[in-house]
Amino acid sequence: MAVKEGERILLVDPDGKNFLIRVEKDKEISTHRGVINLGNVVGKEYGDFALTHNERGKFYIIKPSVNDFMMKVKRKTQIIYPKDAALIVMWLGLEEGSRVIEIGSGSGSLTIALANAVGERGKIYSYERRKDFMENAIKNVENSGLIDRVEFKVREAHEGFDEKEVDAVFIDLPSPWDALDPAVKALRGGGRLGVLSPTCNQIETMAVKMEERGFIEISSFELLVRYMLPRKGMTRPFERMVGHTGYLLFGIKINPEFDL
Ligand SMILES: C[S@@+](CC[C@H](N)C(=O)[O-])C[C@H]1O[C@@H](n2cnc3c(N)ncnc32)[C@H](O)[C@@H]1O
Repeated sequence: MAVKEGERILLVDPDGKNFLIRVEKDKEISTHRGVINLGNVVGKEYGDFALTHNERGKFYIIKPSVNDFMMKVKRKTQIIYPKDAALIVMWLGLEEGSRVIEIGSGSGSLTIALANAVGERGKIYSYERRKDFMENAIKNVENSGLIDRVEFKVREAHEGFDEKEVDAVFIDLPSPWDALDPAVKALRGGGRLGVLSPTCNQIETMAVKMEERGFIEISSFELLVRYMLPRKGMTRPFERMVGHTGYLLFGIKINPEFDL
């Protein structure tokens, strides 16, 4: 597959440093190893390499993954990382065509993972209280090429959502309970609610409130990723690891039961 003008590519140097850029024929990019003329990249195959002017730098041309787009967002807030986003997508049961509300767009990192998961026929409605954060999130999602699948709205969580009968809601707010009743109203029967919070206290408070509102299958967990150093005859874990990002909490909305 050949690189076309306008595409986002990842330029990866053999030491692992990488640059996520948009290919424009008349542009150059300055790296720690020298300057690359992007005109020379157009028409190359993914997996080929590009050389810097001085030929001292060699960069492989790779198609960026969702993981790359998330990790390269311009951060104005704490973000949700790909390790958590991957399971969020699974637990929310997202598929082609799903409609999802996200509250707390932040820097748009999770938005990218959600938009990727719902496919071209799906939609993400992403709510955020701060216009400046939302504008940054829009740029980040545009950069991932998935902006057509997302509608951003500036709104306070407790003011509620415009959408009805959505398949899933994800809340990433310091006070997730502010969005709980609006989420219950917006979700379809059997729809899934997910929450990420940095502390156990928030999770406990939220779980109790979800139970009070009849959610079933309530579960909470934390994901720890331990990187390995895979080397011949001496493979072992890295000495350091990220010990905590956030706790996840999920539940399923059921329809109210009426006495006949
Ligand atoms: C941790 S950030 C979300 C990060 C985002 N999930 C990401 O991956 O980039 C939380 C966001 O929620 C927004 N926020 C906090 N309280 C809110 C509320 N009551 N209503 C709407 N947005 C709120 C903050 O402005 C902030 O941008």
